Amino acid sequence: MIRELIIYPGVDKSGFRERFTYIKLKAGETVSIVGPTGSGKTALITDIELLAQEDTYTKRRITINGQVPSDEIRYNPAMKPIVMITQNTKCFADLTTEEFLRIHARARKISDHGVIKDTIDLANTFTGEKIKKDTRVTVLSGGQTRSLLIADAILIGAAPIILLDEIENAGIFKQEVVRLIHNAGKMVIFVTHDPVIALLTKTRIIMENGAVKNILYQNEPEIRAARNLLELDRKIGNVREELRAGKAITFDFLSVNFA
Ligand SMILES: Nc1ncnc2c1ncn2[C@@H]1O[C@H](COP(=O)(O)OP(=O)(O)OP(=O)(O)O)[C@@H](O)[C@H]1O
Ligand SMILES: [Mg+2]
Repeated sequence: MIRELIIYPGVDKSGFRERFTYIKLKAGETVSIVGPTGSGKTALITDIELLAQEDTYTKRRITINGQVPSDEIRYNPAMKPIVMITQNTKCFADLTTEEFLRIHARARKISDHGVIKDTIDLANTFTGEKIKKDTRVTVLSGGQTRSLLIADAILIGAAPIILLDEIENAGIFKQEVVRLIHNAGKMVIFVTHDPVIALLTKTRIIMENGAVKNILYQNEPEIRAARNLLELDRKIGNVREELRAGKAITFDFLSVNFA
């Protein structure tokens, strides 16, 4: 059981100590990491994925439930409580989507055969071009791969912590992802340039020059702003889907409310 994860400060790109005491993240929490290009977002999420112990160049330290994670937890993939999905994450096995999920489900001792179909269906709610069960995982697009792995992490994977590095560029339906992972009770940490995701998360970590510069918590005006942006985002999404489907835009999409 993971109750909390604590990040202890390291050093910025100039070698100066980060100016926070610690950052405590709780199970089921949604977190975003924001900041300019090159500010150290991926470096921070990588520290979390590695459960760094002052042994990365940032010199940060991560504890789980107040304890230094054992080597077993750090290095045994079966024990690792964290799954990270990045822009470069690929499935290398020469398997169909169905076989890939079945092997994972079997490894996790899940006997419910419906879980395979459910996972593919869930992945297909995130992505425009549908994944079929007999599609080989190696030929899935970047967005499809990430959609499949996120659905797999929600329904089959045991990892209570999910790290997502800039999934928005995959054209994934992100509000679905935030809601579903949150409902699954998992801790999710998004590295993001996307204002909608940043506003949808409870905790926001701001990066600069390789260091955590500030930590902000979602407030009421931000929740309202998120709602408005989501509505706008949905409209933009509708236009995007129309364009992707090869259609021409023949009326003012932004003034229309879709059901
Ligand atoms: N604390 C640090 N000390 C030294 N180097 C750092 C530190 N943090 C980040 N870096 C280095 O700075 C560079 C940019 O960092 P990183 O890739 O994490 O940025 P990013 O915020 O993810 O950028 P992008 O938005 O482009 O993905 C990398 O080469 C990384 O190794
Ligand atoms: Mg990055």
